[in-house]
Amino acid sequence: MANIQVFVFALCTSLLIITTQSHGHSGLPKTHAPLFVFGDSVFEVGNNNYFNTSWQANYSPYGETFFKYPTGRFSDGRQVPDFIAEYAKLPLIPPYLQPDNHEFSYGINFASAGAGAMVETRQGAVIGLPSQLSNFKIVRKSLRKKLGNEEAKSLLSRAVYFFSIGSNDYIFPFDTDPSVLGSYSHQEYVDLVIGNITSVVKGIYKKGGRNFALLNLWPIACLPYARALKTEKKGACFDEFTPFVKLHNKALAKALQKLEKKLKGFRYSISDFNEFLTQRMNHPSKYGFVEGEAACCGSGVYGGIYNCGGKRIAEEYNLCKNVSEYVFYDSAHPTDRVYEQFAKQIWSGNSITTPYNLKALFET
Ligand SMILES: *[C@@H]1O[C@H](CO)[C@@H](O)[C@H](O)[C@H]1NC(C)=O
Ligand SMILES: *[C@@H]1O[C@H](CO)[C@@H](O)[C@H](O)[C@H]1NC(C)=O
Ligand SMILES: *[C@@H]1O[C@H](CO)[C@@H](O)[C@H](O)[C@H]1NC(C)=O
Repeated sequence: MANIQVFVFALCTSLLIITTQSHGHSGLPKTHAPLFVFGDSVFEVGNNNYFNTSWQANYSPYGETFFKYPTGRFSDGRQVPDFIAEYAKLPLIPPYLQPDNHEFSYGINFASAGAGAMVETRQGAVIGLPSQLSNFKIVRKSLRKKLGNEEAKSLLSRAVYFFSIGSNDYIFPFDTDPSVLGSYSHQEYVDLVIGNITSVVKGIYKKGGRNFALLNLWPIACLPYARALKTEKKGACFDEFTPFVKLHNKALAKALQKLEKKLKGFRYSISDFNEFLTQRMNHPSKYGFVEGEAACCGSGVYGGIYNCGGKRIAEEYNLCKNVSEYVFYDSAHPTDRVYEQFAKQIWSGNSITTPYNLKALFET
């Protein structure tokens, strides 16, 4: 971790210097709302390309359908924040660590594949949520220098803060040392994860953030990767995860209601990624897909071995002919087409996103 922190710090310091030296920035509409993105591989757009980690997707065939080159997104194409930025009439929001980007007025993406809300989750291999908050504070400082305190304050209060976080806090202990979970009840462990999420949300509120959009925990028990874990019962969901998902989603809703009561001007949206994805896994044809369970890209049963691109385990991997037919692109991540359907629903719909949809959060 020390290495990453030093590296990230060095990079940010240089960004800060470059940013503060560029005078004469102009022309932004005074009322636009930026998009700040936090989280894991569901929102990652390439931060992990810039340090040494195995949690990367910057090789082919990732990116094959939309960008036509591997950007670091764990998808054949775009991620949810890419669509939301488009609907909000913002430019594509780049990864925070992209060295040639010095523009933060439209927002920035801090997400890092493999990250969790807890410091311990894959510490040293990813940028965890607490470090993402630290990076946000550096960006805020840079905006205050560039725009002045008043304009920066107004910009940050109009901004939408968009999160996908939590799944790795449950997956990581199962992958490494399940005994960690044994010392807590399900509820106790969930409360630690939710506590860490809310403390970052509060940290952003304290720095002037007001509009928060979070995805709930998705069906991690039934991802192709999880199905592949059940060797004795081919294709069944990995039910050890299920109680965590249920408790997490209940506790997340409660925690945000509590914050809304306590914090003046706090607005939030929870998007039910769990229900959305479960529907498509179980009834793919109803939504225009052919395959709801197996991955387009990967190895082994259900494409569940995490080997898309052949950079792990073995060089050989399978790639489907028509990615549009698939709900899952690799063993743990949906396709561009799924993300687009999801983004459309949470932008202007009102069935899977409550109490506000994203469009409403952007209209302050
Ligand atoms: C990246 O990390 C791996 C695993 O920790 C290590 O074997 C490798 O030497 C590192 N590469 C660089 C360029 O530091
Ligand atoms: C965050 O998680 C850590 C364990 O990683 C725990 O010790 C701490 O109490 C949690 N914080 C909150 C506010 O729940
Ligand atoms: C790929 O699949 C989609 C969705 O089922 C279908 O509409 C399209 O025609 C397919 N394309 C080809 C080339 O088969």
